[in-house]
Amino acid sequence: MARITHERWKVFENVFDQFTIKDIIKLTKQQHFDNLVSPISIGKEANIFSAIHREQSIYRIVKIYRLEACNFNKMYDYIKHDPRYFNIKKQRRQVIFSWVQREVRNLMKARKAGCRVPMPITLQHHIIVMKLIGNEKTGAAAQRLKQASPKDPQAFFDDLVKQLSLLYKKAKLVHGDLSEYNILNYKEKPVIIDMSQSSPVDASNAEELLDRDIRNMVKYFGKHGVKTSAKELKQKITGKKERKK
Ligand SMILES: Nc1ncnc2c1ncn2[C@@H]1O[C@H](COP(=O)(O)OP(=O)(O)OP(=O)(O)O)[C@@H](O)[C@H]1O
Ligand SMILES: [Mg+2]
Repeated sequence: MARITHERWKVFENVFDQFTIKDIIKLTKQQHFDNLVSPISIGKEANIFSAIHREQSIYRIVKIYRLEACNFNKMYDYIKHDPRYFNIKKQRRQVIFSWVQREVRNLMKARKAGCRVPMPITLQHHIIVMKLIGNEKTGAAAQRLKQASPKDPQAFFDDLVKQLSLLYKKAKLVHGDLSEYNILNYKEKPVIIDMSQSSPVDASNAEELLDRDIRNMVKYFGKHGVKTSAKELKQKITGKKERKK
């Protein structure tokens, strides 16, 4: 693969592989952003950066999956249950690119259903460009629920239940990785992020994922004084009464 000669990108040589740098350059040529600005989160699977779009004077979010370091076996174990990806082969790059594509499709579906999630702008292999939740003009990202507890937990929870119910009933998705790390507190309203594990409600593992999400929410909001139970929350999200076992 040709080496990157462009001076401006030399600084990234120690951070990203050549394949990633080429993709970043491609995205800048397509004018999705001009430059990466600062790391927002360095995760196990992906790194998140803010990026400046000079012409529009706004910041965007660029999520870059780690091609070599991410656990594609785990990704495969999740995605293979998704009817949209039944034919997927257990091959590192194919799994990662499908994983990223699925995340974007999930975000689009959720938005279409009226859910408050970041708007995806584009994707390129293992990179997603999306709208920044927070102050787009300064690049200050909204904090996660983990760091920014809601001032009115009950109101925040009620809004979240609405979002999850739209996600289930209209988008026909379960989130699959819901926690105080994947919900942002934006002006005291929940914005759900990180939909890489989200699966259609008819996937074979959907109920298991939903039950885990519900347990996490009951635990978090219980600690913040909201009275609810897993059974009640599930009923609110799905609109279904639990069958007697
Ligand atoms: N659109 C966004 N606007 C503002 N902040 C964001 C946005 N997307 C992500 N972030 C920030 O980056 C952090 C990590 O993002 P995300 O949860 O999508 O990835 P991750 O957990 O590292 O990756 P994954 O779980 O998919 O491996 C979030 O917790 C949040 O603080
Ligand atoms: Mg996350």
